[in-house]
Amino acid sequence: MLKIEALQHTYDDGTVALNGIDLEIEQGEFLAILGSNGSGKTTLIKHLNGLLQPTAGRVLFGGKAVTQVEDREIFSRIGIVFQDPNDQLFAATVTEDVAFGPTNLGLTEAEVARRVSAALAQVGITKLAGKSIHALSHGQKKRVCIAGLLAMQPSVMILDEPTAGLDPMGVHALMHLLEELNRREGITMIMATHVVDLVPLFMSKIAILSKGKLLRCGTPRDVFGDAEALKKAKLHLPLVAELMNILKTRDQVNLHHIPLTVGEARREILRLLSVEDVIARV
Ligand SMILES: Nc1ncnc2c1ncn2[C@@H]1O[C@H](COP(=O)(O)OP(=O)(O)OP(=O)(O)O)[C@@H](O)[C@H]1O
Ligand SMILES: [Mg+2]
Repeated sequence: MLKIEALQHTYDDGTVALNGIDLEIEQGEFLAILGSNGSGKTTLIKHLNGLLQPTAGRVLFGGKAVTQVEDREIFSRIGIVFQDPNDQLFAATVTEDVAFGPTNLGLTEAEVARRVSAALAQVGITKLAGKSIHALSHGQKKRVCIAGLLAMQPSVMILDEPTAGLDPMGVHALMHLLEELNRREGITMIMATHVVDLVPLFMSKIAILSKGKLLRCGTPRDVFGDAEALKKAKLHLPLVAELMNILKTRDQVNLHHIPLTVGEARREILRLLSVEDVIARV
């Protein structure tokens, strides 16, 4: 669906933000982009719908360079939620902001109103509909940005650290909403995040960026099993995996693999306990 070929980006001040990225994103995937501050995540995201022009290389969407697809078409197919909501919101009220995209698509007033109220409900901010954008908290602004994206009903959703600034319930609700859109409607999801604990729960693939290069790409099990790559990218394991890894390496607990989630850890611990039960009984 999206193909990134030898992508390079050098900013005007000479900063090389991306240095030869090759990556393919299949339809229906849920991709996490991980990397430390300044590794190039936001720059890469801005190339995925042609907001930035590559210094070299290209990004193809359905076989066509994104920079050559008409803005209106690409923005309706590939939606981005920016890292900083202040870069995205510009209308006076919540409703006006969320309605802007669908109105621009030329939809009827009734359809725009339907999409806006559905999107506000999906992110739990129906009550803020008439509120002035300036009067919103940071977390509320993030939700308005996400609602604006949902109202466009894109086939690819790209979210740059969407959980930053959300309260724990908000993170939970947002991740389940994205999972549902991904699984039920087949929307391709791409999300830059620093929250490694979320990754094995929701994402099918991880791309690790380090200093503008793609350091590693694969399933959560592959990538979190590559201690060297994680260290190089200054990333850590999900907390549960960290604990299980200590039990395996320092305490020689006999684990078949390193569980990445609470559910996997629970199954592994129950397996060990039942083995010990058996040993105690013998
Ligand atoms: N407009 C710009 N002009 C010059 N350099 C820039 C610009 N935007 C980003 N950079 C530089 O490009 C590099 C990559 O930045 P980018 O914002 O893509 O990183 P990131 O991985 O998204 O980081 P973070 O986790 O902090 O959001 C950094 O070194 C940054 O300083
Ligand atoms: Mg960023």
